[in-house]
Formats: sequence, C-alpha cells, structure tokens
Amino acid sequence: MKKLINEVEIRVQNFFEGDATGHDWFHTDRVRKNAVHIAREEGADEFVCEMAALLHDVADDKFHQSEEEGFKLVEEWLLEWGVESSQREMIIQSIETVSYKGGNNKPPERLEGEVVQDADRIDAIGAIGVARTFMFAGAYGDSMYVPDLEVRDNMTKEEYRNKRSSAIHHFYEKLLKLKGGMKTKTGQKIAEKRHQYLEDFLTQFLEEWEGRR
Ligand code: ADP
Ligand code: NI
Repeated sequence: MKKLINEVEIRVQNFFEGDATGHDWFHTDRVRKNAVHIAREEGADEFVCEMAALLHDVADDKFHQSEEEGFKLVEEWLLEWGVESSQREMIIQSIETVSYKGGNNKPPERLEGEVVQDADRIDAIGAIGVARTFMFAGAYGDSMYVPDLEVRDNMTKEEYRNKRSSAIHHFYEKLLKLKGGMKTKTGQKIAEKRHQYLEDFLTQFLEEWEGRR
C-alpha cells in the first residue's frame, strides 16, 4: 500500500509541475494530510480517502478539455495501478463531489466523499486560504479589492469560473460560506478556527483600507 501511495505521489507531482494558480503539489499534499486525519477520526476508509485526495485535482476540468477527459485519465491510472473495481468506484465518486463550482456541485453520497470534500475546503480557508486567494487573483489579473463592485450572491458554475471580481470579494462569495457546509464533525472543528482567522483578516484589511491606524 505504502509503495502504491508513493507511486501516486510521484505521478501527481509530475502532473502539477509549473502550475501557478494554487493547484500545486503542495495543495494536494495538504488536502491528503487533512483527508487522512479526518478519515481516521470519522472511521472512513483511509485508503480511498487518501487516493481520492491525491487525485482530486488531476481530474479537475480546469486541466482538461472536458470533465470526462479528466476522469478518464484518473480511471486509467487506477486501472494501471491495479486498484480493484469497488475501490476505483469509491475513489472516483469521492472526487466527483469535491469541487465547489460556485456552490452548484451535487453533494457527496458517502462518508469518504464527505471527508475529501471537507479536506479540500479546509485548505481554502485560514491563512493558507488567504494566501491562495491572493495568488489566484494575481495569476488571473484581478485586483486585491474593488470597493464599488457588488458581492455576487448566487452564481452559476460558469459565472463562478469565468467572471471574476476581486480577491476580497472572493471571501464573501465563497470562503466565508465554507464553514457552514462542512460535512464531518472533525471538518467542522478545523473550519471553525480557520474561519475565525478569515474574519480577523478581513476586519484588519478593511480597517487599513479605510486608513484607520
Ligand atoms: P479547488 O479546486 O481547490 O476547490 P478552486 O479551483 O475553486 O479550488 O480555487 C483554487 C483556489 O483559488 C482556492 O483557494 C479558491 O478559494 C481560490 N479562488 C477560486 N476562485 C477565485 C477567485 N475568483 N478569486 C480569488 N481566488 C479564487
Ligand atoms: Ni483542491
């Protein structure tokens, strides 16, 4: 098992080489560590959670022509590694429900899917979440803050992906909503602390923006 996980790590590291939008190997590695921790606490299948976490962004349609293509690649890899069919199915299922898509994705069907979704979303909040948001905005040419822009409440997946506003807007449009959507007790506990950090950051940022000292 350890040997297989090691092979998966190397494959995924190669896949993400050179990405500058916050989808690097280190994001995947943090999500994997979160997933393993949550899986242990919640009594979920640790192998399935670890594999799904390691592969969750490889299947993302941001890196492929279509959604199907991403999943085809992951399926091919799982077959190549000799992962048995029931586990393959659980891994693919867990990856399918990970992504946020502006809040439009379908909910996980099993505990393992909940674990991996929580693990990914935990990495979008807290100090790491703040850093990733500004990296993302920078990479796509968005401003850090545009006070006159309205905060969008309900977005389609396309609006979420293609129409951007500012890094600070992203806090209101996504990051602050993540805590309330945590599926596991363990995920909720971690999210609580990281959510508070987001709130504190915003308070300080907006105070400084207004010129208060
Ligand atoms: P993931 O695939 O990890 O669920 P996304 O692809 O939605 O996340 O986004 C990658 C990172 O960039 C996350 O930390 C996310 O919050 C951030 N991000 C996504 N969209 C925006 C945006 N419009 N502005 C700023 N940051 C964003
Ligand atoms: Ni991710």
